[in-house]
Amino acid sequence: MADANDNTAEVSTQIRQQRNFQVHPTERNWQQDAQRRFEFGAAGPAGPESASRRKRRERGGCVSVSKVYRDVNLLKSQDYWDYDTLSISWGNQDDYEVIRKVGRGKYSDVFEGVSIVSGEKVIIKILKPVRKRKIKREIKILQCLRGGTNVIQLLDIVRDPQSKVPSLIFEAVNNVDFKVLYPKFTNYDVKFYAYEVLRALDYAHSNGIMHRDVKPHNVMIDHEQRKLRLIDWGLAEFYFPNKEYNVRVASRYFKGPELLVDLQDYDYGLDIWSLGCMLAGMLFRREPFFHGHDNQDQLVKIARVLGTSDLYTYLDKYGIELDPSYRDRIGVHPKKQWEYFISHDNRNLVSADALSLLDKMLRYDHAERITAKEAMKHFFFDAVRRAFEPNSAPAATQSGDIMSTGSE
Ligand SMILES: Nc1ncnc2c1ncn2[C@@H]1O[C@H](COP(=O)(O)OP(=O)(O)O)[C@@H](O)[C@H]1O
Ligand SMILES: [Mg+2]
Repeated sequence: MADANDNTAEVSTQIRQQRNFQVHPTERNWQQDAQRRFEFGAAGPAGPESASRRKRRERGGCVSVSKVYRDVNLLKSQDYWDYDTLSISWGNQDDYEVIRKVGRGKYSDVFEGVSIVSGEKVIIKILKPVRKRKIKREIKILQCLRGGTNVIQLLDIVRDPQSKVPSLIFEAVNNVDFKVLYPKFTNYDVKFYAYEVLRALDYAHSNGIMHRDVKPHNVMIDHEQRKLRLIDWGLAEFYFPNKEYNVRVASRYFKGPELLVDLQDYDYGLDIWSLGCMLAGMLFRREPFFHGHDNQDQLVKIARVLGTSDLYTYLDKYGIELDPSYRDRIGVHPKKQWEYFISHDNRNLVSADALSLLDKMLRYDHAERITAKEAMKHFFFDAVRRAFEPNSAPAATQSGDIMSTGSE
């Protein structure tokens, strides 16, 4: 929680001066808005700094701002990102008929259904009771991204006339459970679907939105049609530079180190970590790749792979101090080479190209991770890009087989 103060605009100016921030021209309305933004977590630009970030800076730690798509929301009008003021026009629930249950998430019960009007198959996501702002945020983000590459299409919003329980109506994807599907993937399938997720992520990021819950359960794949859709935008948020976000997002196995060490000024790079975990799971046939038993253990599992030397370099950079008991639990581990995870079962899926990309995605420091756009240009995807754009030039560096070296 940020400290409360009546004179918010003045305090925030002081903080900005202390932090030596320049007032960006796109932020000219920032101070007028400051009072409302002051409530931590409110939609919109960053409010005053939290005590924990101030402490980090006092220890000489860096603050963090995204290197890409930093000002997207500041450059858009307020009604683009201000989900608090969203007014929903409800459709008619009777236009849809439930057929069967297809899924159950933390926040919803999900059914396959049919539109009585068009006869098309739909997905009906009946929302469990949650804060109204969370529902508004999910709807607003789905509306902002509607029609975007590989983003699930929101078709309608309805509510039960009596109980007022809201439901979201989506296009249906003939998804096959990832536990059945992923083990069947060929080398090319892994490339193809990883690329398709990156296209969805770059679309969202370029529109100022972080997904914050990338994981196999939220990636629907119709393998017959080779169609992929990124679903479940229930934890997604609008990115603003210097804003401090809630670290209680994403599912444990896909949580980035930033969430596990309470670094709140994170950004789009979080989604790259989560996708990196998915890619590692597919390549090494080990799902989940980082199998923590609780949040602290999750970082332990990561440290056993990426090593503790880079972990402490990362923590020092941002001025983060872990509790002594947490440090004890993590211990000391050398960094493992990615080749260490190659086995008889996954040898045909793993290549030097794949490991080169994976290594760029799974970095402790979100600022060091490859961006979605850069990743799409990586030579691991040469064959996929060729299929999309037959005339595209190959990437600067040629691909190699797993046993070849120096492919970067
Ligand atoms: N458009 C869709 N097509 C097919 N299945 C879906 C679709 N949307 C959701 N599902 C199924 O329902 C589950 C829960 O939906 P999701 O939107 O992730 O809700 P929650 O926010 O509760 O996790 C998904 O993991 C998936 O199995
Ligand atoms: Mg989900």
